[in-house]
Amino acid sequence: MSVAPPAGNGKITVPDIFSRKSHSPSNSLEAKPKITCLTAYDYPTARLLDEAGVDILLVGDSLGMVVLGYDSTLPVTLDEMIHHVRAVRRGTRRALLVADMTYGSFHVSLDESVRNAVRLIKEGGAEAVKVEGGERRIELIARLVEAEIPVMGHVGLTPQSIHALGGFHVQGKTADAARQLERDARAVEAAGAFAVVLESIPRDLGARITEKLHIPTIGIGAGPDCDGQVLVFHDLVGLTIGHKPKFARAYANLSAEISRAASEFCHDVRAGRFPSDAESFHSPAEAREHSPVRQRI
Ligand code: KIV
Repeated sequence: MSVAPPAGNGKITVPDIFSRKSHSPSNSLEAKPKITCLTAYDYPTARLLDEAGVDILLVGDSLGMVVLGYDSTLPVTLDEMIHHVRAVRRGTRRALLVADMTYGSFHVSLDESVRNAVRLIKEGGAEAVKVEGGERRIELIARLVEAEIPVMGHVGLTPQSIHALGGFHVQGKTADAARQLERDARAVEAAGAFAVVLESIPRDLGARITEKLHIPTIGIGAGPDCDGQVLVFHDLVGLTIGHKPKFARAYANLSAEISRAASEFCHDVRAGRFPSDAESFHSPAEAREHSPVRQRI
């Protein structure tokens, strides 16, 4: 993949991300800022994250679990994904917008898989798609790239394989499993992906894969040596319901804030303290004398 010049207006592009490989064998001394990536599923969150300077906004199919209340990512449909990608698109100006290919949307013929990815770009406004899986996805990734669709790979713990993996477990812990993971990451790169997510793997394996690949690695539970890091927004802001993985550092506690705000609202309404007179509209003076409303606050 060639590295095109940056768009020049601060917009993050696929070539920008590609060029942020921190450990490039040809230029190992050059320090590059690590890539930051957060998930987003709606317009206001996208605006806030974009304005905060996050490099990549990922409409992940974690959407199913953190927003839609499903038990896994498997039920998320392509139409649901497109609906959320469109909202995030409207709130995103600078960040690169990546959309997950949902379970089932690329487990069909190659032609249909490409058609589904094209929908994420054309209807959703995504600039790239993310595809879970390693060696098994070589043909698909190559076809997508040929169709001008940049692809982010995703290997390690791939939540769409939950039934095959038997749960959300750290991957690559045996020598054989680690070797397979390296092959998967290399396959994704060889097929033309511009970056790859490494999820829930030992730190040393994350570092080794990062060192060996020419494309950036973006880790989530893969240690600090990756070229970038991704977190699920709800974990970042302390809105996780249920299990919170070890790597999911919370930078805020919005669950507590939301609960506090909602219960204060209930108290105030029940006590007649909300809304106040200052928070109410008033009729013009001439109409007011006929009004039966009594001022309480
Ligand atoms: O669906 C998602 O949010 C993801 C990230 C955790 C990488 O795949």
